[in-house]
Amino acid sequence: MAARLALLRREGTTSDGRSFLIRPASGADAPALVRLRDEVASEGGLIAATPGERSVLEEELSLSTLVGEGGLPLTLVVDGEVAGQLLVSRRPERYHSHIGEVAIIVSNRARGLGLGRRLMETAVDWARAVGITKLSLAVFTTNERAIGLYRSLGFEEEGTRRAHVLLADGPRDILVMALHLWE
Ligand SMILES: CC(C)(COP(=O)(O)OP(=O)(O)OC[C@H]1O[C@@H](n2cnc3c(N)ncnc32)[C@H](O)[C@@H]1OP(=O)(O)O)[C@@H](O)C(=O)NCCC(=O)NCCS
Repeated sequence: MAARLALLRREGTTSDGRSFLIRPASGADAPALVRLRDEVASEGGLIAATPGERSVLEEELSLSTLVGEGGLPLTLVVDGEVAGQLLVSRRPERYHSHIGEVAIIVSNRARGLGLGRRLMETAVDWARAVGITKLSLAVFTTNERAIGLYRSLGFEEEGTRRAHVLLADGPRDILVMALHLWE
């Protein structure tokens, strides 16, 4: 148990001198996570979310469901403030139990510092440790930064789903990507 928690806890200092900590999320993070998602949603065109659509209670419930289904919620803290989140969701059905679905956001005040990469690396290490053999994600085809990060970690493109998400300003194509961890 201690080893597993140590695997999920990473800390350090960014290139611009800010302290960061990656750790498992707790229910107490819910208000800050809702604010973070609203902030990123309000940038527009990055994630399939609308500001204000999720309450703190819904966030708490969603975190505990995710953990109950064997998933991983990570929180990124920068200089004492919640600045990022990574979720790996599991599917309960037998024939999909080898897959982890990844979602990640980093606050625009903490991007470009290597923290998204550290979050993803933590998730990949955890996935290997718990026997997940495929990490999967979906990203808007226009999100070059995120696609660049995923490619650099070894994620491969599996295909594009056209007009698969409908945002307020119109439909978006999504790129499905996966990282295989069989060996
Ligand atoms: C995508 C996101 C998680 C990346 O996090 P980040 O902390 O900014 O990323 P990092 O600083 O770790 O950068 C990692 C890699 O991203 C890629 N990258 C960064 N900026 C890029 C850019 N402008 N264009 C292309 N690739 C870029 C590079 O491969 C970089 O690798 P490097 O470390 O060798 O330079 C973050 O930008 C974010 O949360 N964006 C808004 C929400 C979002 O798009 N979520 C993903 C939805 S699928």
